[in-house]
Amino acid sequence: MSKRFYLTTAIDYVNGQPHLGHAYEKIITDVMARARRSMGEQVFFLTGVDEHGQKVQQTAQAEGRTPQDYCEGLAEVWRQFASRLELSHDDFVRTSEPRHQEAVQAILRKLWAAGHFYKDQYSGFYSTKEETFLTEKDRRADGTFDPIYGPVTELVEENYYFRLGAHQEWLIGHIEAHPEFIYPEIRRNEVLGFLRHHKLEDLCVTRPAARLSWGIPVPFDPAYVTYVWFDALSNYVTVPAALGDPLVSRALAGHGALPAPGSLELWPADVQVIGKDILKFHAVYWPIMLRAMELPLPRQLVVHGWWQKEGQKMSKSTGNIVDPLAVVGEWGVDAFRYYVVRELDVGPDGNWTDSGFAARYQAVLANGLGNLVNRSLSMLKRYRQGIVPPAGSDLAGEADAAVRQTIAHLRASEIQSALLRIEGLMVRANQYVDQTAPFKLAKDPAQAGRLDGVLYCLAETCRVLAVLLWPFLPGTASRIYRQLGLAETPDRFAAAGWGGLPSGHRIGDPAPLFPRKDQPG
Ligand code: MSP
Repeated sequence: MSKRFYLTTAIDYVNGQPHLGHAYEKIITDVMARARRSMGEQVFFLTGVDEHGQKVQQTAQAEGRTPQDYCEGLAEVWRQFASRLELSHDDFVRTSEPRHQEAVQAILRKLWAAGHFYKDQYSGFYSTKEETFLTEKDRRADGTFDPIYGPVTELVEENYYFRLGAHQEWLIGHIEAHPEFIYPEIRRNEVLGFLRHHKLEDLCVTRPAARLSWGIPVPFDPAYVTYVWFDALSNYVTVPAALGDPLVSRALAGHGALPAPGSLELWPADVQVIGKDILKFHAVYWPIMLRAMELPLPRQLVVHGWWQKEGQKMSKSTGNIVDPLAVVGEWGVDAFRYYVVRELDVGPDGNWTDSGFAARYQAVLANGLGNLVNRSLSMLKRYRQGIVPPAGSDLAGEADAAVRQTIAHLRASEIQSALLRIEGLMVRANQYVDQTAPFKLAKDPAQAGRLDGVLYCLAETCRVLAVLLWPFLPGTASRIYRQLGLAETPDRFAAAGWGGLPSGHRIGDPAPLFPRKDQPG
C-alpha cells in the first residue's frame, strides 16, 4: 500500500452557525481532494467539528441538557452542511468521539512521560469567551480589555504547561529550509517574523475540571481536562491513529489502547487548509506538538484569507451574513462552488457581493458554459441526428494545452488559476462557434465534411471541459457527460485526452445547465 494524499480542513466550532467562511474553506479543500483523485492519486480528505469548551458547556446547561446531547444535533447540522456542499470527505471527525479522545489521551501520556509538561500556578486574568489567559499587555490604555474577550475575570489556578522555549530555534530552521511549508509566502513571513522577534511562552494545556468539565480528561491528573486547542489540533492525527496509520500508531504505541499499525498510510498530511486567524496555532503550536510526539510535520499549510460581505465584516447581530445554504437553494450548489473559487484566490481577503454573484452566474455559467454545451449538443442533434461525426481536430491542440496547464495549476494548489484556465478553453470554444458558423455550413451540402469536423470539435471540447470541471463543479460535469450520452463519471484527468468521444456514438438530450435568472430590479 502506498501513502494516501492526505488533506484536512480546520474543524469548525460546533456551536457556530455555518457561514460563507466555513463553506469556502471546505470547498477549496474539496477541489484539491477531487483534483488529486482525478490525477489518479489515492486521497484521504478529513473534515469535522470541534465540540469541547466552556461555551458549549454553558449553553447546554442553560438548555438543561448534557453537552453531549446538545452536540448531537449541532454535529448533524454540520454534517448536512458538508453534504449540501457536495464535499467528498472520507471521514468526519467529532472531538467528542471516543476514538478521538482515546488518541488525545495517548498523546498526553506520551508527552507527560517524556517530560514536556510541568505544573505551575497562574494568577491573572481569564476570558471565558475566548477561553484564554490574558496579561497586562492585553489591557487597553484605559485599563479595560477588548470587548472580543467578553467578561474578564481574575483567577488564581494551577495548570499544566507545555515547554515551548526549546522548540523555537528548530522551528525557525524548519520553516526556513522548507519554503513550501507555509503557503502563501506572506503568511510564512508573518510566522517567521513572530518567531524571530518573540520569545515563545509556555502553553497552558489544561483547564481545571471543576470549572470546565466538557473536555477530554487529562489521563495523568483527573482534576483537569485538556485545553480545547490541544484537543482540536490533535484531530489531524487522532483519526489516522484510530484507522491504524503506521507512523501515528507506532509513535503512540504503549501509551493507550489504540489499533495496531495497519496498511492505511495517511500521516504526514500533504495539505492542511486553514484560515489566517488560526495560523499561529497551526504554524507554531501544532509543529511543536508533532515534534514532541516524534512525528513528521505536515508538508504544507495552505492559509486562506477572510471573506467579508458587501465590504463589511460578517456578523450575525447585524444580519450581514451570507448563508451558503440559502444561496445553494436559490442558485444551485455548483454556482456557489464556482463563485467562491473564482472570486477569491487562496491568500488575500475576499468580498462577497450579491450583484457580483449574479453577474458572474449570468456571464460565465449561463451565457458561457451553459450556452456552449446547449448549442453544441443541440446542433449535433439537429444536423446529425445526435450521432457523433468523424473526428475533427481544430481545437485539439488548445484543449490539450488547457488540460496540461490546468493540472499543473492544481498540482501547485493554484485552484483559482486552474479554474481560469478552464474558462479560457470555454471562451475559445464559444468563439469557435461564432467563427465557424455551423448554422451557415449546414445550409451548404458541399460543406458537410467541414460541418462534421466543427460539430465533433464542439462536442469533444464539452467533454474535455466536463473532465476538467469535475473537481470544481461535480454535478455540472456529470450532467454534461449525461447529455453527451456517456455513462461514466468524468473523474479522471486521464480521460481528458483529445479524441475520447467515439464517432458513431449517440449523444443524450441537451438541457439547460444553468437556467437564466431574472436580474433583480
Ligand atoms: N475550531 C477552530 C479550529 C480548530 S482546527 C484544529 C475554529 N473554528 S471556527 O469555526 O471559528 O473556524 C473554522 C475555520 O473557518 C477557520 O479556518 C477560519 O479561518 C474559517 N473562517 C471563519 N470565518 C471566516 C471568514 N469570514 N472567512 C473565511 N474563513 C473564515 O477556529
